[in-house]
Amino acid sequence: MDKFRITGGRPLRGRVSISGAKNSALPCMAAALLTAETVTLHNLPYARDIITQRRLLEDIGATVLTPELRTHKITANDIELFEAPYELVKTMRASVLALGPLLARFGKARVSLPGGCAIGTRPIDLHLAGFQFLGAEVGLESGDVVARAPKRGRLSGGQVNFDKVTVTGTENLMMAAALAEGKSVLNNAACEPEIVDLAELLNKMGARVRGAGTPTIEIEGVEALGGAEHTIIPDRIETGTFMVAAAITGGELEIKGCRPEHSAIVISKLRESGVEIEELNQNTLRVRCGAAGLKASDVTTEPHPRFPTDMQAQYMALMTQAEGRSVITETIFENRFMHASEMQRMGARIQIEGSMAVVEGPTPLTGARVQASDLRASASLVLAGLAASGETLIDRIYHIDRGYENIEDKLVSVGADIERIRDSVTGPLTKSGIQELESGNQ
Ligand code: UD1
Repeated sequence: MDKFRITGGRPLRGRVSISGAKNSALPCMAAALLTAETVTLHNLPYARDIITQRRLLEDIGATVLTPELRTHKITANDIELFEAPYELVKTMRASVLALGPLLARFGKARVSLPGGCAIGTRPIDLHLAGFQFLGAEVGLESGDVVARAPKRGRLSGGQVNFDKVTVTGTENLMMAAALAEGKSVLNNAACEPEIVDLAELLNKMGARVRGAGTPTIEIEGVEALGGAEHTIIPDRIETGTFMVAAAITGGELEIKGCRPEHSAIVISKLRESGVEIEELNQNTLRVRCGAAGLKASDVTTEPHPRFPTDMQAQYMALMTQAEGRSVITETIFENRFMHASEMQRMGARIQIEGSMAVVEGPTPLTGARVQASDLRASASLVLAGLAASGETLIDRIYHIDRGYENIEDKLVSVGADIERIRDSVTGPLTKSGIQELESGNQ
């Protein structure tokens, strides 16, 4: 498995460009299964989950062309298999997003129960209950979820009240309801920018979705959807990760191609902690550590528009360098503090008490051999390594390749000393990587 070797202590300076949002790209790719016409998606990030999702679509029978590096033209006009195989689903939980579109368009779908990041149990019961509210029969057969629309093969509009806010659950139900007969209302829906992005794509395809970005989404079902062209929004978590990278190294970064309004809570939290952030224009931020240094500030993860769980680990890395005691409370996922013990090995003072992590800072970090446990944990260890003195070796970085586009190249371009040590085929996604994939070599 590939590793990163980082020699820390260098302030990062310069400009970085933000890639497309992985968490928006995945549902938008799945949405292409709703129509026989071509859906063209631009600004897809060059990350491994995107390749996995593409493989999934191809396995199901869709054709995916890549005229440019970050553009996919997806045509699902010859679907014969209505299932997502275990081999792909086990590596990426978001494969479950195939369920809604297949069920809505063909009246049947089978998807293995998902795997993905090791951050708690992460069930999909809310997705399944939602499909049932739209008239589907849902069962488990040999570890697979099997769903059918018994009424003439079409789902019926209905009222879905989510017990808990779920991002991919909301997306799955939006896609399912888009082709259902009649009107659906999703209550307690997720409000993430990725939900709004998916709704925009669906509406371009001819769907009638209103209220995306609020807790109540109304969907007037239509009989068929058509092709569309859409550009994926910038990745707000990559944006936040680079903001922390600037602050934790005492450097200054200009972060281009982002959408500051999607990162409003992270920006305000970082400002509270002493990070100086200027919005140079609608798409550019300038970030540096303030003259007074970093100070501890508590944070609680919650659904959008509050502080994202996907920034919790990176924020924890920052708090190890802040003056005082900060309490970080994780309310979305259980078991999402696995990075804490790795940071402790680098000298951080962190105490875990249930869903709370108490960080005492600042502590000088020293390089160590650490292990990445999930996507965002990997990012936090990279950040800790950049701030540490000496050499840090991060094992299992395939987690970071799932969601970040060539993170080491971007970091090197702003002065980081980071290097990939390869010992497997799972490298960053280079142009030749895509070509290999297209020729079926990977
Ligand atoms: C998505 C994001 C992930 C992010 C998370 C929370 C994608 C591809 N991934 O994951 O990066 O960390 O939102 O912002 O967009 N739950 C249930 N039953 C369900 C579904 C969810 O109990 O059927 C629970 C989960 O275990 C978790 C909470 O609801 O405790 C939120 O999960 P959810 O929003 O569904 O996360 P994902 O959509 O998987």
